[in-house]
Amino acid sequence: MASREKGKSPFHPGQPIPAELFVGRKLQIDRILQRGAAQVAAGKPVAMFVQGEYGIGKSSIANYAQRVAEQKYKLLRVSVNLGGAKDIEDLAGRVLEAVVRAGETNVSTAERVKGWLGKYVGKQQLLGLTLNLEALKADTPSLSTPGQMLAFLRETLVRMGDAAGGVFLVLDELNGIVNNPHFAHFIKGFVEENAMATTPLPLLLMLCGVEERRRAMIQCHPPIDRIFDIVEIEKMDRGEMKEFFERSFREADMAVDAKAMDALITYSAGFPKIMHVVGDEAYYLDQDGTLDYTEAMDAVVSAAEEVGRKYVDQQVYKALRSLDYQSILQKIAGLGPSGDSFFKRDVADGLTPAELKKLGNFLQRMKKLNVIRSGDSAGEYVFNVQMVRLYIWLKSFVKVLTAVPTVSPDSLPPVAKVKSKRNA
Ligand SMILES: Nc1ncnc2c1ncn2[C@@H]1O[C@H](COP(=O)(O)OP(=O)(O)OP(=O)(O)O)[C@@H](O)[C@H]1O
Ligand SMILES: [Mg+2]
Repeated sequence: MASREKGKSPFHPGQPIPAELFVGRKLQIDRILQRGAAQVAAGKPVAMFVQGEYGIGKSSIANYAQRVAEQKYKLLRVSVNLGGAKDIEDLAGRVLEAVVRAGETNVSTAERVKGWLGKYVGKQQLLGLTLNLEALKADTPSLSTPGQMLAFLRETLVRMGDAAGGVFLVLDELNGIVNNPHFAHFIKGFVEENAMATTPLPLLLMLCGVEERRRAMIQCHPPIDRIFDIVEIEKMDRGEMKEFFERSFREADMAVDAKAMDALITYSAGFPKIMHVVGDEAYYLDQDGTLDYTEAMDAVVSAAEEVGRKYVDQQVYKALRSLDYQSILQKIAGLGPSGDSFFKRDVADGLTPAELKKLGNFLQRMKKLNVIRSGDSAGEYVFNVQMVRLYIWLKSFVKVLTAVPTVSPDSLPPVAKVKSKRNA
């Protein structure tokens, strides 16, 4: 059969989701709007921390909430990426740059931002906004205290006139800067100084990061713990995943049969990041406009390889090459794709005496590699990144296919069965 022309893939692995394709998260969005945006629009500043696993959708939710808050409450969207930032001067520079860029996203504020901060805009403006980096750099130091930054944002808001009723400031990609003790102090000072002002700046401050980032800030400055309303982002439920796949494949003009849909949902296991990788693989594998079960399963296997190559191989498999370690990993895989933790006794059950002897060492090495940490109960181990667990689980199927050809197809999980049938 002639393969169909492929148009634009509706999947966005590795990028925050465009608002039209954003699905689910109703509870979290409602919380951000009610306890955050609406309060800010009424004049009360709020600080929130959007917390969740790597790739669970923190940046996407922040971005989506900003858009809704802009439309509903006229909050000015300022989105700051702190990737690579190390100190408060870096933070100040990124905030200044983000405010200059805030004009790009909304026509009603664009002209006013340009009028107010025009000196930071570069000459050629063919595609989007270019920045006058020298001017930015020269003025950054004058924004490096909480008071100065508040004054700058306050002035920005005044200049927006009736086009904006508050500021929605997102600080994302905190990896580097949270380890700098000045950062936690700065944020606390920033929030408290504003709260104590006679007329506080209507500001929704939102930090996005994995739980360890928030913990790192608390370690630097314990009182920071009190200032945030925490918005926890969990894995998606089946309904959300189904809506996502239906909407995305409809956008690509593709049908998905019921069994294939079930497979996509099951193996994505609630991780938006995986949904996009699996969906993208399926989009390219399909030849006739209807995704069937076999194609969906092939997509799952390819996705497992892709995810593993990018996120897990270096961390786990290259470091744990010995055969005994590998079979212990297989055992962990057999415990399932999700759940935060596992118990040592469940892994031990059924290991050979030689493997059993190495189990203690294995767990220590996994801890050293930052894959797991000890849990609250005796013998419990918690995955630091749950996606690693999913991959170990997915990889166990792929491994069985390639490494143990004599295994009977009936003893394999569904992915392997499909492949074996096809290879037969
Ligand atoms: N609500 C959603 N609907 C559809 N796709 C989503 C949704 N949330 C996230 N995604 C997709 O999932 C992937 C990860 O999302 P995102 O980058 O927002 O996660 P993150 O938690 O910020 O990740 P990181 O920890 O790497 O910063 C992206 O490909 C994004 O497009
Ligand atoms: Mg992110």
